[in-house]
Amino acid sequence: MCLFRFTWNAFLFTLALAALLAAVAPPPSRADSGEAAWLRYAPLDPQAARQYSALPAVVVKLGDSPVLDSAQAELLRGIRGMLGRTLREEKQLPQEPAILLATLSSLKTVAPELGLNSNLRDDGFVLTTARIHGFDCLVIAAHNDRGVLYGVFTLLSKIARTKAISPLHETQQPAAPIRWADQWDNLDGRIERGYAGPSIFFESNNVRADLSRVSEYARLLASIGINGCAINNVNANPRVLEDDFLPQLARVADAFRPWGVQLSISVDVSSPKVLGGLDTFDPLDPRVAAWWQKKFDAIYQLIPDFAGVVVKADSEGRAGPANYGRTPADAANVIARALQPHHGIIFYRAFVYNHHLDWNDPKADRARAAYDIFHPLDGQFEDNVIVQIKHGPIDFQVREPVSPLFGGLKKTSAAIELQVTQEYTGQQRHLCFLVPMWKEVLDFDLHAAAAPTPVKDIVAGKAFHRPTGGFVAVVNVGLDANWLAHPLAMANLYGYGRLAWDPDLSSQAIAEEWTRLTFGNNPLVVKTISRMLLDSWPIYERYTGPLGAGTLTDILGSHYGPGVASSEHNGWGQWHRADHGGIGMDRTAATGTGYTAQYPAPVAKRYESLPATPDDLLLFFHHVPYTYKLHSGKTVIQHIYDAHYEGTEQAAELVKQWESLQGRVDDERYQQTLERLEYQSGHAIVWRDAICNFFFSLSGIPDAQGRVGHYPGRMEAESMTLDGYVPLELTPPEDASGGKAVECPPPAQRCAATFPFTGTSGWYELDVQYFDQNNGVSKFRVLINDQPVDAWLADDHLPATKPNADSSTRRRISGLALRPGDRIRIEGTPDAAEHAALDYVELQPKPH
Ligand code: GCU
Repeated sequence: MCLFRFTWNAFLFTLALAALLAAVAPPPSRADSGEAAWLRYAPLDPQAARQYSALPAVVVKLGDSPVLDSAQAELLRGIRGMLGRTLREEKQLPQEPAILLATLSSLKTVAPELGLNSNLRDDGFVLTTARIHGFDCLVIAAHNDRGVLYGVFTLLSKIARTKAISPLHETQQPAAPIRWADQWDNLDGRIERGYAGPSIFFESNNVRADLSRVSEYARLLASIGINGCAINNVNANPRVLEDDFLPQLARVADAFRPWGVQLSISVDVSSPKVLGGLDTFDPLDPRVAAWWQKKFDAIYQLIPDFAGVVVKADSEGRAGPANYGRTPADAANVIARALQPHHGIIFYRAFVYNHHLDWNDPKADRARAAYDIFHPLDGQFEDNVIVQIKHGPIDFQVREPVSPLFGGLKKTSAAIELQVTQEYTGQQRHLCFLVPMWKEVLDFDLHAAAAPTPVKDIVAGKAFHRPTGGFVAVVNVGLDANWLAHPLAMANLYGYGRLAWDPDLSSQAIAEEWTRLTFGNNPLVVKTISRMLLDSWPIYERYTGPLGAGTLTDILGSHYGPGVASSEHNGWGQWHRADHGGIGMDRTAATGTGYTAQYPAPVAKRYESLPATPDDLLLFFHHVPYTYKLHSGKTVIQHIYDAHYEGTEQAAELVKQWESLQGRVDDERYQQTLERLEYQSGHAIVWRDAICNFFFSLSGIPDAQGRVGHYPGRMEAESMTLDGYVPLELTPPEDASGGKAVECPPPAQRCAATFPFTGTSGWYELDVQYFDQNNGVSKFRVLINDQPVDAWLADDHLPATKPNADSSTRRRISGLALRPGDRIRIEGTPDAAEHAALDYVELQPKPH
């Protein structure tokens, strides 16, 4: 029987309805891969565009250079995209208003009367409206070409955010001369701690043939004021300095140059030996010095604007000056001297520590290493050496105190190293906007001199009157269309660049700027996404590693999921010293490792004192019993439990907040973000349960709210009726609920776990906790009384080849009408080494 009969009236009604819906519904969402990031130049709505109607129709570029060409092309592209107008290019000032792109010196020749600020530092710029030869002009001027380019990006950003540009009198100067992005790309195309696909620079031990993404990356970096980029892993492959590789590097430099981004590479200090055929790489050997000199002379022949190098030595198994009883200053200086004639710089990383520490020694402390090694060398480095210091003394944990080394180098230039790639903060599967964390670090006053010495002033060279210094961030973009895999993760790269330019910007201002540029100016969108970003770091901290204990992740492997025990009983020194009685590292001078004494007195005093130490760093500095009362009034153990439950609930809230934006952001990024947030919400529960159970079994102290160990509606897979599935014990036990899961091993082709529903009739939500490894694509199916209600593939690429807390994943099935006696059956079809492992299901009533 035909259910729908065509009638003319029905057709007209449908048309009318469609027209009505089009009028009231939000505009159709255009798909957006995220590749354009914050440089989308999406058309402004007509009302917003109207305020720019007086914008000149002509652009005049004074001078010729690849960077000035980019500046002009970018201006045309942005104005065309946002305002639908194509500016006319002229070579000389026309008899009408114009936008003028010029360096200060060329501006002087055409409009000497302007007398613009000639004290501009490199990369700074002036954006000003001025009358030139009787016409109202918009002038973008700078000391150097790069400054002009930055001025153009700033103007376009204002327009994209619908800010007024007339009149305009603005001067911007960067906080520090050095603002770099580092990539940890291997020459084979993989990226160490990269989570967004293969390298944009390398493949198969060569530079890629197609460098179009490299140009695009340089453009993005330039738009936020980044002026240098080291493109290969700090664990450097010596091949990067081989003669036949240098022309390949020159191709990357060519792709960077139009955007004012200078090329740098990480080098291995043993290169004179492993590559150069010398019998030594002793930095004090004249043959070694000569080798470096020759090598850099060759590089500068090919790449005249080569920026310099990054060095990781005597660290995590890398060769270094210690091989010859020499110091980091010796190793840095031999390279620095070879770079000096070419005005190159060397970043020598302070991430030097012994990873074979004796964990039985209560005085051993990895956190001390950087200061202990580098502070005595202060003043011994050449002027073109910059000591690159990770922001905290351990390794990009979710919370650490500021590295004391920033206060310990007064006669040496320094840079702060931050991490955009979220190695310890959710690997771009969890939302974690790091700008608020970086702000805390940069604003922290180390009291290293009579006047305030916040970290931002130290690295900018201001505090101790150093000639240079600045900011470095490990970024690790990859070939994924949207660069960092999570559509919201690019806020970290944007925020990093903005802070490196102006560390006084607020986190809120940065979050809003990025959201407007990336998702448009809809007030609800701006408010919701900025809020989500600003809340996300504290949320992540709550369900991973509160009170300064470290991220509590698996430090021996992926650095991703929970793995509390992995920190202990090894030489890596990421210890939290949790035992039956208490938790935390005693780093006091009085009874502990003495680390606190590395800070200037006012800071040392605060951290030395248990009551004066802020709660959020308590366990970094002190070992306390679980029953120790925090400033909040809670005990440490109850705080651990509460924070994990609170963080998990807030992670679930993020999903709801995002859902409120459906139809207000394009479908592609909406869907991608939703999937990541839903996944995060499920994985937050994995974190919560693993950490809470670990500390419950260690301390024996129950949760005052009775949640830990009690999971309403949870049914363990190993307690179901199993058909083919067999129980599996997990190590550590916190990796699965109750320490056990079930798996479907060969020769089984398909397994099932079944249980009867015993609750009351109603609507339910069913969560299936399963393991999604990266070495197979299992299939899952859920049936109620033989009726299939959901099916999916375990096809994610989580960092795990076995069932554990990294691979543990949650699938939510909503809107199930259940009646007592219903049979709920989960079927798993294994694939390759992935045995369709299943942990538990959870049923929650959800009135529909
Ligand atoms: C971390 C990271 C390593 C990296 C090292 C570094 O330890 O896990 O992959 O090489 O930092 O910064 O050098």
